[in-house]
Amino acid sequence: MKYELGLIGYPIKQSLSPWIHQQFLIKAGLEGNYSMQEINPDESFGEEIEEIKSSRFDGFNVTVPYKKRIINHLDQMDEDAQTIGAVNTVVHRDGEWTGHNTDWIGYITSLKRHYPSIFQNKMSSILLVGAGGAARGIYYGLLKEGFIRIDIANRTQSSAEAIAELGDTTTQTSIMALESAEKRLGTYDLIIQTTNIGMKPNVSDTIISLDQLHENSIVSDIVYQPIKTEFLHQASQQGASIHYGHTMLLYQAQYAFELWTSKKIPADDMEELLKHKLEGR
Ligand code: ATR
Repeated sequence: MKYELGLIGYPIKQSLSPWIHQQFLIKAGLEGNYSMQEINPDESFGEEIEEIKSSRFDGFNVTVPYKKRIINHLDQMDEDAQTIGAVNTVVHRDGEWTGHNTDWIGYITSLKRHYPSIFQNKMSSILLVGAGGAARGIYYGLLKEGFIRIDIANRTQSSAEAIAELGDTTTQTSIMALESAEKRLGTYDLIIQTTNIGMKPNVSDTIISLDQLHENSIVSDIVYQPIKTEFLHQASQQGASIHYGHTMLLYQAQYAFELWTSKKIPADDMEELLKHKLEGR
């Protein structure tokens, strides 16, 4: 069998997903293609997606800005994707198109690999900065792991409140403005930057000041272009531990590949290679 896989999004020319999945195919000893299916926002998404579905695809990834829009074009979604309300992986099996979300588990896997200690204390105090689609997936993953204290700081309070609704009665989530988070930063064990602020070309931007950061904290940023964002740079200067965003990209791909092929490919050894690839661009 030859797998036909791909990526839908815009813009995606710079994406390293083709490289990651080619590595997985080689490691798995499988034959396949992973093609770029860029859909320009000026084009009709519905028509483009139906054309892709009429080609011989076994599955594809979906990235910005289509993780929500794809939902109307699927036959079903798994429970995770349904709760998160976003799809990054589509599987075509027995004529049916099923949406999945592997971003949240990719993030959790990468955090667990680098900072297993945080998972030993479910009362660890966590702050999510930002309340977009990425934050929703990460909040969902942290809840699944049993963390109880997960605050959300966002410019728009209502978006943060909508995410907090995922929690149950045991979850303790305070919603706050970005300025309040800056002042309380020293109280958190883990701070996760979930927006695209600081991404190339705006590399000097940071969403909040880290002046009050405690050196025992872990600071995580989902941005991976550049690998070491200004946010992470400032965090390490303050003596905190840092967690890089490119590892989330790698592990979400690992789970997507497993959904398509039923093969789980070890990816730990690809972290450094991926980092070099991203740095070399
Ligand atoms: P995604 O789905 O990729 O996470 P999104 O849903 O557009 O993207 O969310 C973007 C996040 O970045 C939001 O938390 C947004 O804050 P608002 O909810 O207030 O819009 C945040 N964000 C984007 N630009 C920002 C800025 N200049 N200052 C502060 N927050 C910003």
